[in-house]
Amino acid sequence: MEELTLRHDQPLIKEAVHSDMTESEFLEAIGKNMLPLEQFIMYYKCAIMEIETKFKVLNEQFSLKGESNPIEFIQSRIKSYGSLYKKIQAKKISHTLEAIEENISDIAGVRVVCSFIQDIYHLADCFLAQDDIRLIAKKDYIRAPKPNGYRSLHLIIEVPIFLEHEKRPIKVEVQLRTIAMDFWASLEHKLRYKKDLSAAQLRFLSGEMKVCADQSAEWDKRMQNIRNIIR
Ligand code: GTP
Ligand code: MG
Repeated sequence: MEELTLRHDQPLIKEAVHSDMTESEFLEAIGKNMLPLEQFIMYYKCAIMEIETKFKVLNEQFSLKGESNPIEFIQSRIKSYGSLYKKIQAKKISHTLEAIEENISDIAGVRVVCSFIQDIYHLADCFLAQDDIRLIAKKDYIRAPKPNGYRSLHLIIEVPIFLEHEKRPIKVEVQLRTIAMDFWASLEHKLRYKKDLSAAQLRFLSGEMKVCADQSAEWDKRMQNIRNIIR
């Protein structure tokens, strides 16, 4: 049987696609190229399962302690081939799986949404204290929001996945945020992809978004205070 191990030195597309290829030659070339790529993406799917489980376990434990569940929901995604391509081009990364694995840290993304800011930091601390998690980078956009008002705690980590014959460390981008931050970010994301706005409209809406970000951050703080007093 053919060995299925992934060769990381091979280019993403090995065979050139010629205009004079027959259909079966073309399908064969696609098939040969799909397998390493599917295996590559499979690693990230497995890493997402590991990370989701870790947060679900923490959520279970916290709710047993008589506290309500700190996590409202978890959303995970694998970067689409389209955005992967755009990032490879923008960062001028060579087209090998090895270079992509090394230089792109958000192929796997896990978003953990909580009601309260303190729960975000507590969850992040417990998660990062686990001995199989290696922290690569932490960006705290809650303490230091982006100029547009974006807030979230970002962790780029590596988690091992256990395969048939090996253990592989896989990078995952974990974003922790409150419901309010998530609501804001999804609207801002829509605005970002709106290409038919005039400069004046865009300026107005960006200003509105900044005001909403600051107001909802204030709201997050006050809700946290209320909960602390109730406790
Ligand atoms: P990317 O190359 O876009 O991944 O940026 P980066 O490497 O500088 O990382 P950063 O931590 O800034 O952003 C990573 C991810 O956070 C993005 O892919 C988004 O999901 C989210 N994000 C960061 N900034 C914003 C923002 O201003 N608005 C929204 N809606 N999402 C953001
Ligand atoms: Mg990104």
